[in-house]
Amino acid sequence: MLENFSTGRWRLFLEPGHPWVYSLYSMTDFSRYTVSIGYDRRLYHQDIAGSVAHAKMLAKQDIISKDDAAQITQGLETIEREIREEKFPWDPALEDLHMNIESRLHQLIGAAAGRLHTARSRNDQVAVDLRLYAKEVMSEIAKGLRGVQSALLELAGRHQNVVMPGYTHLQRAQPVLFAHHMLAYFEMFQRDIGRFQDCHRRTDVMPLGSGALAGVAYQTDREFLAAELGFSRISQNSMDAVSDRDFVVEFLAAASVCMMHFSRMSEELVLWSSSEFGFIRLADEFTTGSSIMPQKRNPDFAELARGKTGRVYGDLMGMLTMLKGLPLTYNRDLQEDKEGFFDAADTLTTTLEVFQAMLPGMKLNEERVSGLAGESQMLATDLADYLVGKGMPFREAHGIMRELSQHCDDRNVGLQDLPLEEYKKFSDHFERDVYDITAESSAAARDNPGGTAPGRVAAALEEARKILEVAGDGF
Ligand code: ARG
Repeated sequence: MLENFSTGRWRLFLEPGHPWVYSLYSMTDFSRYTVSIGYDRRLYHQDIAGSVAHAKMLAKQDIISKDDAAQITQGLETIEREIREEKFPWDPALEDLHMNIESRLHQLIGAAAGRLHTARSRNDQVAVDLRLYAKEVMSEIAKGLRGVQSALLELAGRHQNVVMPGYTHLQRAQPVLFAHHMLAYFEMFQRDIGRFQDCHRRTDVMPLGSGALAGVAYQTDREFLAAELGFSRISQNSMDAVSDRDFVVEFLAAASVCMMHFSRMSEELVLWSSSEFGFIRLADEFTTGSSIMPQKRNPDFAELARGKTGRVYGDLMGMLTMLKGLPLTYNRDLQEDKEGFFDAADTLTTTLEVFQAMLPGMKLNEERVSGLAGESQMLATDLADYLVGKGMPFREAHGIMRELSQHCDDRNVGLQDLPLEEYKKFSDHFERDVYDITAESSAAARDNPGGTAPGRVAAALEEARKILEVAGDGF
């Protein structure tokens, strides 16, 4: 084994006479351990864009000839096409994406290929690739989140004044508008978008020109590279730039919070679609039957979103743990930044697709939810407020309603069915108008900013629509 490890096979494909080529491309049985091509190839577009910009900059600065730059660019365009058309000869022996592309470039254009890596290292190269990719993914995610928000607004508008039971401790608590409930998720996703926007801002920093760690010994133009690649600014410290993966951690943290929101919503969809709740019916395509129980409509998509949240948390933990012991600057551990990042990005983007498709087809059982919202125990707070309206201190009113609720429970009658004389036994403040208290009046009474009164909810809905209008499908 050891012998195999040290002998290996040699792959010579770059300009002969460069000794580093030999060590870099020696292949051994253990080389599988270091290979990243299986997953980093998905950065090919960003890698090629970075190389094209780099070649252009090198020529502009007279570091390489215009002719070499033109050949390099042409070769890279061919490579991009080959990859897109799945004709590219990926070779695991070449370890990673960068080496695969450089080697192919050498095959295609010969000696000029060897000039591309002037004033560059794979360390700043991979950093630029990942930043470019992360920026794109975050824009995609923002778009998906906007889509989910707009589905929520559509649902809220469709059932705008329907009351439903609101819960605390998963016990029925007070009536709320269904639209208010949907708008709660709108708020969560609004914050998620803010987190991705924030992360995007810190990712939008161009690291090329940092070289391996210390900068490069050529008069490069980093601002030019930033402009070419669509970055807002350049990194300020080469050592930081090649070893910083904060943006990946931030991305994973934002993705974790966002998945947590989807997971909570999923939990509600699971509960609501059970026969016990019977609040909603999900479209057939988002439920599955059971192979044995014909009556089943399992909410698998919501369950899976809830379940997949765990793996995104895992991606975050893996990343934080991988980073915590690394001395400056680049360490090969950093290659492990990609799979968790891609996994979280894929999990979140597919979850966004699912929810954008699933939410519009969700049918609310209006009768059921408003019926339950009107059940007497839901209105106990309102009856206490009623007594307060007649001059009683709230604490006292609360105590009376506690007894009254218990009284109704014991006799298995609703508050609405209790005769006025019975009410009077608890307080002579009770009059006929106690029967005017309904789920609707209860919701309408919560007429303060952020409350569930129909007017407030209508205004919140309007506000939310405006936010979407301004944002379009971006941040
Ligand atoms: N495949 C490597 C990574 O993803 C590229 C950078 C390699 N740099 C190095 N010094 N070996 O991190």
